[in-house]
Amino acid sequence: MKLPQLEDLGPLDGKRVLLRADFNVPLEDGRITDDLRIRAALPTISWLQDHGAAVTACTHLGRPKGTPDPRWSLDPVRARLDELAPGVELLENLRFDPGEEADDPDFVARLIEGKDAYVDDAFGAAHRAHASIVGPPRFLPSAAGRLLAREVEVLGGLRSAPARPFVAVLGGAKVSDKVGVIEALLDVVDTLVVGGGMCFTFLAAQGHRTGDSLLEADQVEGCRRLLEQAGDRIRLPHDLTALGPDGTVRQVRADVADGWKGMDIGPGTAAAFSDEIEAARTVFWNGPMGVFEDERFAAGTRTVAEALARCRGFTVVGGGDSAAAVARFGLADEVDHVSTGGGASLELLEQGDLPGLAALREAPNVR
Ligand code: 3PG
Ligand code: MG
Repeated sequence: MKLPQLEDLGPLDGKRVLLRADFNVPLEDGRITDDLRIRAALPTISWLQDHGAAVTACTHLGRPKGTPDPRWSLDPVRARLDELAPGVELLENLRFDPGEEADDPDFVARLIEGKDAYVDDAFGAAHRAHASIVGPPRFLPSAAGRLLAREVEVLGGLRSAPARPFVAVLGGAKVSDKVGVIEALLDVVDTLVVGGGMCFTFLAAQGHRTGDSLLEADQVEGCRRLLEQAGDRIRLPHDLTALGPDGTVRQVRADVADGWKGMDIGPGTAAAFSDEIEAARTVFWNGPMGVFEDERFAAGTRTVAEALARCRGFTVVGGGDSAAAVARFGLADEVDHVSTGGGASLELLEQGDLPGLAALREAPNVR
């Protein structure tokens, strides 16, 4: 997919550039707990500044629903950005204005006022057809920033020409969020490994008892169909770590008794999944294998993260919780690509395109 690049903007000396970034960073008590998304935009910012442009950045933070909310103040982001990239102006949280999510033309007009060019480096938000993403490229010469371009190259490459075997590892709570991406992945992967809360709906479809584990009853039939179509390529847990009604934690096989709740894949499954991952030449991982925030249920996710780190193939982690997991286990540097986009990376794998990318391809300097 060909996107306009920074070089396609022409001379930028003395020009004013609007940069859409995704500085939607995790916060705790008003402090940034992981500044990856700010650091990830620095190559684009320095490129623009080195070429003489004045950079005005904009981002959303949280989901403040169109009205100013001090909980989602950009002050901590502004302070960190100032340390990392002095001289960049940062606009107010875009979602303090209802015009952002509505893609309101007046809001777009205010964003681009006085600007000569637009750069989108907000990969994590490229699946949102919001004003700051799809609006400016209707009017301004536009380009993908370095981060956005790299994300699209890596994730797009997984769909088009993955080295084989290609193993996708999916986890996380809900299978309903991932049906589309599962179907798309089954078109390209050799093996799909399923753990996390979503595995119980698959296990139920196989006739296992799931006790009090997470289960989406309305998805069982869909999972049964996926297993019928591609069951020989789908790997499910054969043992689990479960939490009992009295707080006991024990290993069980793939059936969970009433009153018990599956919280993590078991050690046998973790070993089997690791073997699949280590033997792969391409791995995509999205979603933890268990409730890894709780040390009692972190082993499955840790084992998978360690296998990913040992894998000699090309390894990609889709953002969100799995990115947080590799960071927490100190393994982020061992992975070839940690995406800054959670929802965006899944949607790109599923659809092969995103609203933010389509908008850039339609910009006046490309048309
Ligand atoms: C993210 O954190 O996934 C992106 O910043 C998008 O945020 P959103 O899901 O609130 O649109
Ligand atoms: Mg590797």
